[in-house]
Amino acid sequence: MNDKAQFVPRTQGNEISSFQTIWSAPSNIALVKYWGKKELQIPCNPSVSFTLDQCRTTTSVRFKKQKTAQDHTSLAVHYDGKPAPSFVPKVKTFIDRILPYAPYLKEYHLQIDTVNSFPHSSGIASSASAMAALAAAVMDLEQQIYPSLTVEDQIKKCSFLARLGSGSAARSVEGPLVLWGEHTATPDSSDLFGVRWVKAADVFKTYRDTILLVDKGQKEVSSTVGHNLMHNHPFAENRFSQANDHYQDLLAILEKGDLNGFADLVEREALSLHAMMLTSSPSYILMHPNTIQIIQEVRRYRKTTALNLTFTLDAGANVHLLYPEHESEQIGQFIESYLRQYCQDNELIYDRVGTGLKKM
Ligand code: PMV
Repeated sequence: MNDKAQFVPRTQGNEISSFQTIWSAPSNIALVKYWGKKELQIPCNPSVSFTLDQCRTTTSVRFKKQKTAQDHTSLAVHYDGKPAPSFVPKVKTFIDRILPYAPYLKEYHLQIDTVNSFPHSSGIASSASAMAALAAAVMDLEQQIYPSLTVEDQIKKCSFLARLGSGSAARSVEGPLVLWGEHTATPDSSDLFGVRWVKAADVFKTYRDTILLVDKGQKEVSSTVGHNLMHNHPFAENRFSQANDHYQDLLAILEKGDLNGFADLVEREALSLHAMMLTSSPSYILMHPNTIQIIQEVRRYRKTTALNLTFTLDAGANVHLLYPEHESEQIGQFIESYLRQYCQDNELIYDRVGTGLKKM
């Protein structure tokens, strides 16, 4: 499973002089979190995520073959229809990292146009959806060059390439649930790419995720810095071992359709992630007072109504509210009446579990 050589094209392919393609990729929300990495986005522990549906990046790439080898410093990147030179270094780093696996890119000039369905300043990280959409476009070109590539191979390599751009992007290719990182309980799981997991009870395949935008600004400490602080973290080994246990426990919970077990485990995972930030050196806090208020309200609501409203957190102040579709009417009223007030400018996003990449 961990053989990178399988992703290096070995044969002479077709001549493709120009090609344009458009892909839309979703964001995802981890239930068991990836926090801490080795070398290039190799996770220190396995993770599990819900793929989202509405929060997406749509990217058009125009590949034009050149006479001379390209170093991709002259990339053209547009965001929301406007030139976005600040995105160029990120895309160039991504291309440099994937070149050993997509050497044909050396011959192409790329014109990239990208838009997000969610506001740029919403505090929602777009790197997972952005890298997955870009990787999908590259894999579409690869499919033109090597038409014998199977759909399965294409999807697997797409996740592999996306991972090199942003770790969690490996989980934005398919849905509704994706595993990433090796674990003995799932022999087909890999550190190199995400795999779709289909054994969850039906109730989880239509789960809702309402994202409460507590802080729409850029977070004060990036994920890259946070991952690095797991090196020499006093609790790192315990955290990795806890995540391994949570991974196996969560899969059993999902398979059984155990909604109480889900709420208990997913909330402890979210708080463990933030506990790592609270206890790193230097330490930092990404939760805001309103994040805590929402957590308390969610727990109170669950206790008094016995409805299955659960929270999880990303590496930021925003809160993801997870709940089953059949409870969405009642829970929706609670969100509108009690929780929307905690959001910056009263903004939130209603999303749900989705299926992954779409070719446009
Ligand atoms: O993919 P990165 O490097 O942005 O890291 C993502 C980290 C978390 O979102 C906090 C957890 C996860 O598994 O997605």
